[in-house]
Amino acid sequence: MPNMIKTSPTAELMAYFRGHSDIPWARDIADASGSEHVARNMLKDRFSEAGFLAVVAEGRFKKCNAYARKFKSVVEIAAGLSPRGLILTEDPHLTYVSTDLPEMLGKARVITDRLLEQRQLKRPNLKWIGFDALTSDESAVNQVLESLPITPLAVISEGFMMYLDIEEKKAFLRNIHRMLKERGGALITTDVLHFDRERKNRNHVLQAIADATGRDMRTLNNMTRREASEFFMQAGFYSEILNPAIKISSLSSLRLTSDPLSLEVASLPVWVLTPCVPTSPNVRVN
Ligand SMILES: C[S@@+](CC[C@H](N)C(=O)[O-])C[C@H]1O[C@@H](n2cnc3c(N)ncnc32)[C@H](O)[C@@H]1O
Repeated sequence: MPNMIKTSPTAELMAYFRGHSDIPWARDIADASGSEHVARNMLKDRFSEAGFLAVVAEGRFKKCNAYARKFKSVVEIAAGLSPRGLILTEDPHLTYVSTDLPEMLGKARVITDRLLEQRQLKRPNLKWIGFDALTSDESAVNQVLESLPITPLAVISEGFMMYLDIEEKKAFLRNIHRMLKERGGALITTDVLHFDRERKNRNHVLQAIADATGRDMRTLNNMTRREASEFFMQAGFYSEILNPAIKISSLSSLRLTSDPLSLEVASLPVWVLTPCVPTSPNVRVN
């Protein structure tokens, strides 16, 4: 797969830490995927310093969902082992499409199918499509769209764009723009981070993730909020920064309520990007 960003183990890493939250299905997925082993292997002697990742995983998941609930059509990009599909498709009127590279998608699907079978549940409105988010193949974008009803669309992406360099970010945004131009709706993402170029960020957990993925989010994300808004505008999007009130259960369950880093990541916002073009007249707004 030419555009594979070597981040698959971070899907397990985040699944493991999300398992410390009160998010439904998160613990089941963490256990079923063997995520603890992957997380320990990746972080090695820094494992015990990584509790703040539980706050990151829970906070960004809940903040994206708070906004996505307005939509009846949801596609998640680079979904990894997210429980979002299982949660949102409890609403039989909502269609959710999980996308990722084929290998990770297959793993997520096997785990999900097993969990559904164990609880004798059926979710015909939960769909799976292998999708390279950096593709330049328009038909791949169309395939995702064709699997969804013609209504405004929430595209959710967490924990992906922050691993991309600037050209990859542009390729990703081009694909999302194509989807939203057709259907209307918004890209909901938590991946607009700002690491100060001048200030050395010596966090050992972030270093371990950089070592494992070959992608250092500290050097890939240096735009201020104003610069990021301008970048999105050039890519054809209006952007809005929201911070919905949510409860982050892992702050208390992991005793992180006085940990400055955990409090900092708990306050990270969600970005909502809408295309600066009129939506196709074919879209039916409910
Ligand atoms: C850090 S994980 C995030 C997973 C999930 N969103 C979460 O928050 O738990 C990054 C994901 O990106 C996927 N990925 C890597 N390259 C990709 C590409 N070119 N297109 C789509 N997904 C990709 C990986 O398979 C992995 O699941």
